[in-house]
Amino acid sequence: MYSQKNLEQWMKNIKVTNLVNADVDVVNNTPLEMMGKGRQGAVFQLTNDICVKVFGNTEDCDREYYALSLGQQTSLFPKLYGKGPLYIVMEIIRGVDLREYLQSQPLTNALSEKLIEMLITFKKIGYERIDHHKRQIYLQPDGSLKVIDVARTIWRDRVYPYPRKLLTSLGEENKAIFMAHVQEMAPELYMEWLHYIRMEEISRQITALLLPQEPDKKTIKNLSNSLLTTADESNYVNLLQGLVHKVFKEEWIKTMLARGVNTEKVMAKIDEHWDKLEHGFEERYPESERDYDGKRGFKGERHSRGDRDHNRGKSYEGEKDRRRKGAKGGRGKRRH
Ligand SMILES: Nc1ncnc2c1ncn2[C@@H]1O[C@H](COP(=O)(O)OP(=O)(O)OP(=O)(O)O)[C@@H](O)[C@H]1O
Ligand SMILES: [Mg+2]
Repeated sequence: MYSQKNLEQWMKNIKVTNLVNADVDVVNNTPLEMMGKGRQGAVFQLTNDICVKVFGNTEDCDREYYALSLGQQTSLFPKLYGKGPLYIVMEIIRGVDLREYLQSQPLTNALSEKLIEMLITFKKIGYERIDHHKRQIYLQPDGSLKVIDVARTIWRDRVYPYPRKLLTSLGEENKAIFMAHVQEMAPELYMEWLHYIRMEEISRQITALLLPQEPDKKTIKNLSNSLLTTADESNYVNLLQGLVHKVFKEEWIKTMLARGVNTEKVMAKIDEHWDKLEHGFEERYPESERDYDGKRGFKGERHSRGDRDHNRGKSYEGEKDRRRKGAKGGRGKRRH
């Protein structure tokens, strides 16, 4: 056995340093034997059944401990015995890892079933990134599975919607076998994975196509002039007004929501108000007398609204109606 005092003394005498794209660097001035190491830490044997994983940084240590703690009610993970800022004391997982196992043994239906069950458990306990390499999965003498190295299951810069790493780590042949098993046992899940795999394949092909192409900068520079908008003064004023209006509306809605105001109601009131104003305006300036060059109309507001309605072939009243009915994406009569 080891004592807490011993443990703390040893932990002071093991220095683990993270390296870029390589396993950690380890300086071990203790009698403890190293069982293995990876990019996040090194694992040392404490007793026959207990080991300690020493990390290069506290974030990885905290994440792994948290992820392991989520799984303590299941039989999938090493039991936790203790933690320091840079170490975790846990059960030693024995058995044969899936990589070794599959070198001589077939991927049977029963094993595939266990892998699917493992994924289900991951999801159930709250792992965000359900993706393990086959070498992190250990087969026990009774045929059950255990999993180590789980820090990345709860935090990662990338998340895949299907067990990409597990599938690719199986290799082409076993991947096909596993997929066939999934198709048999869980056809809907199979279809989803297949969908993602195809999307990925298409993305890969597009990238292969796009990557070698040098953009024709000169041509695009000339052609892109047609996208410029500030030279035409009156159009620029219109566009700027529209933009500011949009920003104002977004901020206004945010503020109202924060205050707990029912924005739909307020909008309806504003519409009502504008209806009245518009009515007055129409009476004072009948259509025949109206000057649409912006002298009387609210520049940008009425003018471009008319344009917009015309362009889209939608009636402005219809738009307002839609919004009142609460249709998603419906717009008010004001410019956005
Ligand atoms: N609980 C355990 N029981 C037995 N061996 C373990 C245990 N945890 C880790 N090991 C051994 O130590 C090695 C390194 O551990 P682990 O994979 O957890 O490190 P890591 O730095 O987090 O790896 P990665 O770079 O993949 O994140 C493992 O490959 C395994 O051989
Ligand atoms: Mg790890």
